[in-house]
Amino acid sequence: MRMLALGLAALLAGPAFAQTAPTPAPDATVTSPDGSIAVAVTTDGDGRALYAVSRRGKPVVSPSRLGFLFTDARKIERGLRIADVARASRDETWEQPWGEWRTIRNRHNELRVRLQETSALARVMEVVFRVQDDGVGFRYEFPDQPNLRTANIAEELTEFNFASGGTAWWKPAFLWNREEYLYNRTPLAAVGTAATPMTVKLEDGTHVALHEAALVDYSSMALLRNEQANGFKAQLTPGSGGPKVTKTGSFNTPWRTLIVANNAPGLYHSHLMLNLNEPNKLGDVSWVKPGKFVGVWWNMIKGTWTWARGPKHGATNANVRRYIDFAARNKIPGVLVEGWNVGWDGEWFGNGNDMDFARPTEDFDADALAAYASAKGVSLIGHHETGGAVSHYEDQFDRAFKFAADRGERVVKTGYVADAGQLERRMPDGTIRREWHEGQWMANHHLRVLEAAAKYKVSIDAHEPIKDTGLRRTYPNWMAREGSRGMEYNAWPGKNPPEHEANLVFTRMLEGPMDFTPGVLSLKGQGDSDILSTIAKQLVLYVVLYAPVQMAADTPENYAKYPAAFRFIRDVPTDWSDTRVLNGEVGDYVTIARKGRTGDDWFLGSVTDEEARTLSVPLDFLDAGRSYVAEIYRDGAGADYRTAARHAIAIERRTVRRGDVLTLALAPGGGQAVRFKAGRR
Ligand code: NOJ
Ligand code: CA
Repeated sequence: MRMLALGLAALLAGPAFAQTAPTPAPDATVTSPDGSIAVAVTTDGDGRALYAVSRRGKPVVSPSRLGFLFTDARKIERGLRIADVARASRDETWEQPWGEWRTIRNRHNELRVRLQETSALARVMEVVFRVQDDGVGFRYEFPDQPNLRTANIAEELTEFNFASGGTAWWKPAFLWNREEYLYNRTPLAAVGTAATPMTVKLEDGTHVALHEAALVDYSSMALLRNEQANGFKAQLTPGSGGPKVTKTGSFNTPWRTLIVANNAPGLYHSHLMLNLNEPNKLGDVSWVKPGKFVGVWWNMIKGTWTWARGPKHGATNANVRRYIDFAARNKIPGVLVEGWNVGWDGEWFGNGNDMDFARPTEDFDADALAAYASAKGVSLIGHHETGGAVSHYEDQFDRAFKFAADRGERVVKTGYVADAGQLERRMPDGTIRREWHEGQWMANHHLRVLEAAAKYKVSIDAHEPIKDTGLRRTYPNWMAREGSRGMEYNAWPGKNPPEHEANLVFTRMLEGPMDFTPGVLSLKGQGDSDILSTIAKQLVLYVVLYAPVQMAADTPENYAKYPAAFRFIRDVPTDWSDTRVLNGEVGDYVTIARKGRTGDDWFLGSVTDEEARTLSVPLDFLDAGRSYVAEIYRDGAGADYRTAARHAIAIERRTVRRGDVLTLALAPGGGQAVRFKAGRR
């Protein structure tokens, strides 16, 4: 029977039938190197292209559509056929100049599917899938073609139809406060318009994180529920000009990424997003230096000092010198200064047209302070708050970064404080357009900043940024960004709840480094209001919330009150050779161990939500054959984020080895931080 069928097929394909028989579609399937993840591309009866993803034989994403709407041309969606298929594989290891891991393995199988319209337009759209053992990335690639010279994209029709129900952790997209919302935990079927990454736990426990990689010259993707039970479709960020994205000639989209894992820690371990970004474009980046910083900052956030000039001005010579002294005493290499430049007086929120990043205020002697800092081995971190006047900022790029570099600044913190959709873009004819923080123009703006800064060997820490899609691989001077609710929300009414950081690790932190600004040991915000944390948890954040530039956000006066706990902040590095997520559930708790990039010490941080927890952690990550002194910073007796006992901390030492089991007792809203100081082998 089988023989007969084969014979018939051969016959049908023979020359006599060549004109009448339909060519069978090529096999458009691919599996990951270990065979666990499979992707299949098909077309339906209307010629719609669909992709599906399964893991270990079980569907994860059921058939989901691909395609585009244009503002000035027919959509590309129906009437497609699979014209050709090509395959490739790669297995390589590359090194991060700084990061959570020193080496990254990139091992994947690739499938390129060439789709072509059967209509007279005959436009071609290729979809490229890269399948790793821990997830899938795919993007569209368009060749330059006569019937699509310029693509004015009205919407991307990509769908993500989950194969079962599940729980989703997500924050809303397109609201005025940009990326600074708390995470919602809802059934998949109750998700509103969501920003990515969106993290999902499917009914069988499989965890999926849906995001994008290499967002270059394109607008960010959010997710909107479609008519399928657990389905979503892409919703691109608007642009001010009409189309959401405009591309000319050949082009590709960012990668749409699905990390797929057994559990929450598995999501964090994936290198899918970094692997999908292009290698370092900047050449020698030995000038990009990780490190901690303090700053003239928390007192402004609390409202006791001001950015603007006047009696409460924070960035005065005397204050800055005090912070430099404190940094030098504690071997902290950076001092951030905000409000040092002219432009803050009056209403700067959403109005940065007076900001001048080469003109200090009268009470900030930039040259003298730079010399003072440098004599003490400290460098200042400049601040460029654009107030949303983005073209005005671009006008001063060159002199602003020269001003910073001439004064020994290695890092500049940028800011885009303006409501979503309100960024100022000046057109060549002088008219002003309003852009979104996550739109195509801003995606390009951030790359212009990185290039302008790199010329002066300056690195960037962007606040109110565009979301992180792994571009630190291509531009290693993009060291950190905000892009979620950081510590500043603990100064204000409506503070971050205790579960916030356990949410962040499995959502925002999957994007990359966050400038969260931890370490407020006073646990006090504006008007002496209480922060919903224990003191031990503040230390834990240095391990669980990764950033290569990490702030010690409290004031020197406050740190002087907590010398024993501050010790951990002094000791903890900001650059790592290895990272292991030892346990965790999204929004509940997480324990992470990291090994310093230099030296042999390991550090551990474990954080819980509002519930007390006891966790057993086998110390399997420690190097074999070596003893360690574990310096343990744990919640003290009765510690609780709701009471004055939030300050209760116990600090103790124990000798441990690989194979020992550490029991972590976490208080409500608390945590435990450990330094494993390596002894002799
Ligand atoms: C908001 C930023 O998140 C904060 O760090 C900064 O101090 C203010 N904007 C002023 O630029
Ligand atoms: Ca902010």
